[in-house]
Amino acid sequence: MEEVNNGVSIRFMKKGDIEEIMLIEQCSFPAPWSAKAFLSELQNKFARYFVLLEQGKVVGYAGMWLFARESHITTIAIHPNYRNQGYGRMLMNFLIDYSREEGVDTMILEVRISNIPAIKLYSSLGFKKIGIRKNYYLETHEDAIVMLRKFNEENCRGEDEKVAD
Ligand SMILES: CC(C)(COP(=O)(O)OP(=O)(O)OC[C@H]1O[C@@H](n2cnc3c(N)ncnc32)[C@H](O)[C@@H]1OP(=O)(O)O)[C@@H](O)C(=O)NCCC(=O)NCCS
Repeated sequence: MEEVNNGVSIRFMKKGDIEEIMLIEQCSFPAPWSAKAFLSELQNKFARYFVLLEQGKVVGYAGMWLFARESHITTIAIHPNYRNQGYGRMLMNFLIDYSREEGVDTMILEVRISNIPAIKLYSSLGFKKIGIRKNYYLETHEDAIVMLRKFNEENCRGEDEKVAD
């Protein structure tokens, strides 16, 4: 458990968190993951999932796969009532610090081309657009922007790049 701020902490996700997570998941994504999908991720030896708690209540979560010096962010969400308070940034910074400590060289993620809040967050943390995956999101046929963050380029981060073509 890591205390990030007054009353705010981040710890590994547990099976018992999934019920609360499902409430956030269902109002955060057009194609929400099932409880079974989270359960299966908790058993995946390459996966690391974390929850962010405010006064003991789960208000956000994020996860990634760690493999071959790369971390692939699979999800991040903050409860709608708790957005725009810096919690998404706290979780992302936590994933970045965790990846650095694990010796990761590169972090990668996909984001919907229409998801401006998330794209802005990732850009401000040094993720750069490296490509587009066409029709990546099957349910909406939306394209994904692929973003990459290299640890040896840490001194070059911070700009909010224009990412949409
Ligand atoms: C993306 C998400 C996790 C951000 O969480 P959050 O706690 O609201 O974000 P923060 O308060 O930490 O804000 C961090 C940065 O994100 C960007 N941002 C957040 N909300 C924004 C909005 N509504 N519009 C534009 N930029 C926004 C800003 O760059 C902000 O930095 P700033 O406050 O210095 O300007 C949250 O919006 C969410 O859960 N969305 C639904 C799920 C989702 O889309 N996940 C990402 C999948 S790839």
